[in-house]
Amino acid sequence: MIEADVILFETERMYFRQFRAEDAQLLFELDSDPEVMRFISKGQPTPLNRIQNEFIPRFLEYYRQSPPQGFWAANLRRNHEFMGWFHLRPDRISPREMELGYRLKRSVWGRGLATEGARALLERALEEWGYARICARTLAGNLASRRVMEKVGLKFEAEFFYGENVLPGWTETERRAVKYSTQAKAPSQTIKVPGGSRAATLQL
Ligand SMILES: CC(C)(COP(=O)(O)OP(=O)(O)OC[C@H]1O[C@@H](n2cnc3c(N)ncnc32)[C@H](O)[C@@H]1OP(=O)(O)O)[C@@H](O)C(=O)NCCC(=O)NCCS
Repeated sequence: MIEADVILFETERMYFRQFRAEDAQLLFELDSDPEVMRFISKGQPTPLNRIQNEFIPRFLEYYRQSPPQGFWAANLRRNHEFMGWFHLRPDRISPREMELGYRLKRSVWGRGLATEGARALLERALEEWGYARICARTLAGNLASRRVMEKVGLKFEAEFFYGENVLPGWTETERRAVKYSTQAKAPSQTIKVPGGSRAATLQL
């Protein structure tokens, strides 16, 4: 029996759903495109056994968390095609922040889909799920990824270098990276102005 998809939310063109063990092959195909992996592993594919034994178990573990965090598959609403994934997880360098990320199949690039999915996830994270601070990181040369960050309203925060433990065998120049971030707006509250009859809204 094939289990029904567990859907987190929908956008205009896609839906976010939980991964299942059966998705290993789709992830393997995604990570087998050297262009997709260019700024992640210099084009090296991820072995299927790592996807099955490390990544998918980690993805499934995230779904126990509330408010939501983790990796979600993104499928096109039009034909249910698997496009890739988005993540929102504790940042590995500053774990009090949540890190936004995305990886899509080359066949769907350039149509605004990463922007659409990232924007929807960011809005929910800040406005519904109560996360205070969201960041995103990428290698400095990954201009498409940086552009998506800018388009969804993240602001450049800092340049940094991924450690050799993260990208073993890469030179320091190759490990140069950028961090973008944003934070939740302070909640607005309506208060009475002393001595007056009008209410004023202050950003607290
Ligand atoms: C990064 C990625 C998710 C973008 O997906 P996408 O659906 O094509 O993104 P969008 O269409 O929403 O936006 C891409 C933007 O980058 C721009 N862009 C693409 N390639 C670019 C390049 N080489 N230089 C400058 N800008 C570029 C596009 O023109 C577009 O901006 P615009 O709308 O102002 O024209 C996709 O390329 C991908 O999956 N890459 C491989 C995985 C990866 O690197 N993930 C990020 C790791 S941190």
